Amino acid sequence: LRVLAVASEVYPIVKTGGLADVVGALPAALQQHGVATRTLVPGYPDVLRALRSAETVLNWPEFYGGPIRVLAAAHDGLDLLVLDAPHLYIRPGNPYVGPDGRDWPDNGIRFAALSRMAAEIGQGAIASFTPDIVHAHDWQAGLVPAYLHYGRQPRPGTVMTVHNLAYQGQFSPDMLATFGLPGESYALHGVEYYGTISLLKAGLQFADRVTTVSPTYAREIQTDEGGMGFGGLLRERSDVLSGILNGIDVDVWNPATDQNIAARFSAELPGGRAQNKAALQLRFGLDQAPDAMLLGVISRLSWQKGLDLLLETIPTLLGEGIQLALLGSGDRDLQDRFAALAQANPGRIGVVIGYDEALAHLIQAGSDALAVPSRFEPCGLTQLCALRYGAVPVVANVGGLADTVLDFDEAVVSGAAATGVKFAPVTADALAHALRKANLLFNDQVTWRRLQQAGMATDVSWHDRAARYAALYRELVAARH
Ligand code: ADP
Ligand code: GLC
Repeated sequence: LRVLAVASEVYPIVKTGGLADVVGALPAALQQHGVATRTLVPGYPDVLRALRSAETVLNWPEFYGGPIRVLAAAHDGLDLLVLDAPHLYIRPGNPYVGPDGRDWPDNGIRFAALSRMAAEIGQGAIASFTPDIVHAHDWQAGLVPAYLHYGRQPRPGTVMTVHNLAYQGQFSPDMLATFGLPGESYALHGVEYYGTISLLKAGLQFADRVTTVSPTYAREIQTDEGGMGFGGLLRERSDVLSGILNGIDVDVWNPATDQNIAARFSAELPGGRAQNKAALQLRFGLDQAPDAMLLGVISRLSWQKGLDLLLETIPTLLGEGIQLALLGSGDRDLQDRFAALAQANPGRIGVVIGYDEALAHLIQAGSDALAVPSRFEPCGLTQLCALRYGAVPVVANVGGLADTVLDFDEAVVSGAAATGVKFAPVTADALAHALRKANLLFNDQVTWRRLQQAGMATDVSWHDRAARYAALYRELVAARH
């Protein structure tokens, strides 16, 4: 089975969040289930730089305003197709915003072009590669199912995966013709969304199958509250909607071989954790206190992640003698508030504002617990890494966090061993309560060790989860024959 995956980010080359991790790790896992994936990404400067040798498989003089090529290249086990369109992608900044932090005004065209190219490849533009399925990730690839719906037949099957319903890719209705969509598509059962064109809606509406990244989020987004404007549409499409949990790359995240941490360890030999904790305390300017519970956070700083609630619980945290090591970047206001907090509480609260992969590994290896107080969380990856590294997750009981962490109360019912602490509702009070509870458990070393061991024994790899994608692809191919 051949799949063309389409996304705006791919780890390890270009990443702003978990989307890149998923797009980067899923192909290798799918291969074990007989699925060959090629991944189409935009030719940002970082992507072109990362390619060692590339073959030009398409060369067109004009495509959405300029000449383009499609390059084929292998990179780090990935089979990449790169849309080299200098007029769209050769720019400074991250994939979506310029150096001034503002969205590029032509983002609609930039990602329409990516999606159109995927549709063209789906319909045979590259003779040597005709995919059975085109798998679109998030709004940037949302037009793929629409183009294929309105395009030539036969066409490959389409799968749309929602990593985050909050990013909806909305553009002016004047763009319809520029995007190359027919007039009839601007309708309730088309791409029209509250007077705009939503590229995400295009995907949700026209894909043969819609998936999201956890079963609980799949349910939440079918409600008016969790649907962020798409609840009705997703309820209509519930027969083709499913949730498949994310995994993590257990080779990248392996405490037994990790070169980014101070000492390697495993479930059998957890001794190295103490050394990592000391190194983490040093790195964050925290007191060298082996007996204080050290709480880690690795996160984008945005409303979604609920870290303003953590700010409100600081008195509890300090009162309990808990230390905090936070790594994050995002909203200016949150960055400033956390930085100020660290200044005011040296030795107790450490904050690094920025994006630092290596440091994220050390936080997982050295923290006793990892906090993820998200208001909503499609899946979440940091709690999966935390399980693998023996940092006990303290999480909001929402989305993928609900599906991947087992609290004591649930453990009693299910007979499995607890792996973390969950709280609900997502309020500062409930978070404070959860932190007090975690600290109590931490001070009971036998119980804590048991939580850590159960977490480290949890399967957070892609293997079984990729099997579910493979099964979905096969079911779709069979259904279309
Ligand atoms: P989201 O995609 O919503 O940001 P996820 O938990 O799915 O949340 O994925 C976030 C990914 O980005 C994880 O791999 C996490 O380790 C990483 N990450 C987030 N913030 C930082 C940061 N400041 N520095 C390093 N890695 C980060
Ligand atoms: C999004 C979500 C996150 C998820 C990631 C990968 O960024 O916010 O919960 O883990 O995508 O699917």
